[in-house]
Amino acid sequence: MKSHFSLENKALYAAWRDRKLADYPTTIDALITKIKHAEQVSKQEITHILSTAARFNMAFYHLPEQQHTDKKIIHRLANQCGLKNINHNLCADADSLTSLQVSTHPGQHDYIPYTNKKLSWHTDGYYNSPQEQIHGMLLHCVQPAQTGGESLLMDHDIAYILLREADPAYIKALMHPEAFTIPANILNGEVIRPEQSGQVFAVTSDGHLHMRYSARQRNVQWRDDPVTRKAEQFLLDLWEQDSPYKLRYTLQAGEGVLCNNVLHCRTTFVDDEGGSKRLLYRGRYVDRMDRRAIYKKP
Ligand SMILES: [Fe+2]
Repeated sequence: MKSHFSLENKALYAAWRDRKLADYPTTIDALITKIKHAEQVSKQEITHILSTAARFNMAFYHLPEQQHTDKKIIHRLANQCGLKNINHNLCADADSLTSLQVSTHPGQHDYIPYTNKKLSWHTDGYYNSPQEQIHGMLLHCVQPAQTGGESLLMDHDIAYILLREADPAYIKALMHPEAFTIPANILNGEVIRPEQSGQVFAVTSDGHLHMRYSARQRNVQWRDDPVTRKAEQFLLDLWEQDSPYKLRYTLQAGEGVLCNNVLHCRTTFVDDEGGSKRLLYRGRYVDRMDRRAIYKKP
């Protein structure tokens, strides 16, 4: 099958790029589905979520009041969109959704998702082995922060386009099998996670783009090659600039985003002192969102 992601297929790529960028939204308004009954999400609502994700690789939803704290409901919604297999737990139950909250739990307190610090641009699971890449992701807000905690998201197809438009050689460099390496995680002499080397951009067997990326400078090794370094810098510069393709939104209680593991980051936040703390559920899936899910039994 000819792919528009191949550098040889210039006309195919240009047609896909133009379709992708046409009338690209600057806010998430066009990407949100208002769900009437969280216990029974309608076929039309699921279809709207899936067709939005098919175009933008992400879709937002809004659940009615009082129906947004039950992990089973969120888990079922993800399932209906084709996100079924949670990473590290192929028979995932609803409790496999991770609760993200500022934590003083030993081992979590220094890990940024469990702090109120700014989280830099990344895709989830960039340190996973090639067999366990994360293709789908869910973030659901139970309780927003008092201030801050805004999410910024960019469809990784768009990042690909911006890089290819700047210099097609960037794409070639980022598709190199050793473009991006995460060194082994060693704690007290024990290897917790082996070194993971791989592509930044890869095309899946069904023709979709997948991206492994972290803007972190520490604990990330880029291939020592001039073009790779330039591509790395291009992305770092992109995060510093305004771009209409960065969609910003602060999830409110009962709202969430389902996505094909797009690029995202989070601003710093402040919790209500003495009140409820910001709480988000996160699911990481080996599946992509799947339009065919609508025709399958959950
Ligand atoms: Fe993330």
